[in-house]
Amino acid sequence: MRLSSNDIKNLSKVKRLNLINGVTGIKSANLIGTVSRDGVTNVSIFSSVTHLGSDPALLGFVLRPTKEARRDTYTNILETEEYTINHVFRSATQRAHYTSAKFAASESEFELCGLKEQFIPGFKAPFVRDSKIKMGMRFIEILDIKRNSTRLIVGEIQHLILPDKVIDAGGLVNLEIAESVGVGGLNSYYALEHLASYPYAKTDELPNF
Ligand SMILES: Cc1cc2nc3c(=O)[nH]c(=O)nc-3n(C[C@H](O)[C@H](O)[C@H](O)COP(=O)(O)O)c2cc1C
Repeated sequence: MRLSSNDIKNLSKVKRLNLINGVTGIKSANLIGTVSRDGVTNVSIFSSVTHLGSDPALLGFVLRPTKEARRDTYTNILETEEYTINHVFRSATQRAHYTSAKFAASESEFELCGLKEQFIPGFKAPFVRDSKIKMGMRFIEILDIKRNSTRLIVGEIQHLILPDKVIDAGGLVNLEIAESVGVGGLNSYYALEHLASYPYAKTDELPNF
């Protein structure tokens, strides 16, 4: 099969979004936790969290347009300037998936989707208690993507919480031990298997291929 940009445009909406969401390959599956000014907690699944730089430790995620639908995660981040990013873990894929349903602003997905909250002193936003790898984030800035009215939300890691056993002496994170999962498209979840780790690639240290 070969599709031109016109063919893609002419696909049905659902087929197009499944296809185009799927072709980037495995994406990280994360739950973003926030709290409103009034104290209502919120947690929603996002597959667009990405590394932006390590020093300072910056992560971004892409937020869908806010015109057609209310986005509580976005409103809460603007109100409190804090949020958490929590890896989806194997036993919680279904609960994590259903956090994407359109709940009322007054309802907490934590309660309705069976996920436990966790708070740490001095930080407002809720963590997902049973997620192995989680980060408390401070909101930094928004970059507008004009072509489709999406936004890149940039934040800096303030707290990084993970069990000792998932990182090695050099700081490599083992996602298999953490039981983190990947997501394909918008509704398929994959277990992760560690295949190999290689040293920093140098031209004068090429293996004999
Ligand atoms: C697997 C999956 C990945 C998603 N990734 C994103 C994403 O990267 N950005 C986004 O804006 N919405 C994403 N969504 C949709 C949000 O989860 C959904 O809009 C949710 O209702 C937002 O909740 P909120 O209104 O409480 O912020 C994703 C949904 C699913 C099922």
